[in-house]
Amino acid sequence: MRPNMTSLKVTPLTDTFGVMVHDLNLSKIAEDKEYPVLRALFEEHSALLFRDQELSAEDHLRLARMFGPIEDRMADSRKPGEELGVSPVSNQIADGRVTGEMDMHTLHLKANQLWHIDSTFMPTPSLCNILAAKVVTETGGETELASSRAAWAGMPEALRECIRGKILGHNYRRSRELISPKLAQQSMFNKWPPQRWPAVWANPVNGKEALYIASHVYQVEGMVQSEGKSLIEELMAFCTQPQFTYSHKWKVGDVLLWDQRATLHRGTPWPYDQPRTLASVCCSLQGTDGLDAARTALVNLQV
Ligand SMILES: [Fe+2]
Repeated sequence: MRPNMTSLKVTPLTDTFGVMVHDLNLSKIAEDKEYPVLRALFEEHSALLFRDQELSAEDHLRLARMFGPIEDRMADSRKPGEELGVSPVSNQIADGRVTGEMDMHTLHLKANQLWHIDSTFMPTPSLCNILAAKVVTETGGETELASSRAAWAGMPEALRECIRGKILGHNYRRSRELISPKLAQQSMFNKWPPQRWPAVWANPVNGKEALYIASHVYQVEGMVQSEGKSLIEELMAFCTQPQFTYSHKWKVGDVLLWDQRATLHRGTPWPYDQPRTLASVCCSLQGTDGLDAARTALVNLQV
């Protein structure tokens, strides 16, 4: 690790992206001290892992607010006075029961097992997800990451040329349809109109490009449907090869933080009769995080 990059001790998660950050208590981060170092690591390595954390919901939100505004997908249904909190990613519901394998809630969790980037279907997508393990299972339930930056850098030019300059259509409903047409009909998957985003984003700090693709993509503008679908499948297969991926086996206390502009992710199955709970907070992208450049690119790109 370059000594001028950080005063924190880090070790690589893979040969291509991601680091584990040692000896840092995430509940004690100061915005003017540790945060700038963390942010630099985030921009450079795309994924950060922290072990043995005791992150309360309050700590979790405080850390997230340093990265950006907390994403609020339920803003339209929040009751007056009800505060925005941490989102549980869990098969355990309010009464303590775990939901059945074919329950709509479990199917929604299964849709998260398709490679995706969070919130590309929203008018303002997310910068990062900060995921903390609360209840884990002995087997399964891994979270897997794929570096769409490392994959883009390693992609044959002929394949890059097929997608460079293209605009992709994203829709929440699309990824749910792939699991269950009935699931896709639920109102929460239909409340945002389709969004358009450039297929390639450049990191505003270091200029490194990454593919911006997800299971939410339903269209490559300017291509017939079948060709666009085949191209996305080919790109997804390329990005998720072993040399570009990391599979995280959770322990309680782990916190994983990744850059949605350069990383795809997915969950993996676990025994659904056992509870498994991760706490998630996503932060929204701000203009200087590359959102302004992406919106400008939409105006300039030819369909
Ligand atoms: Fe996700």
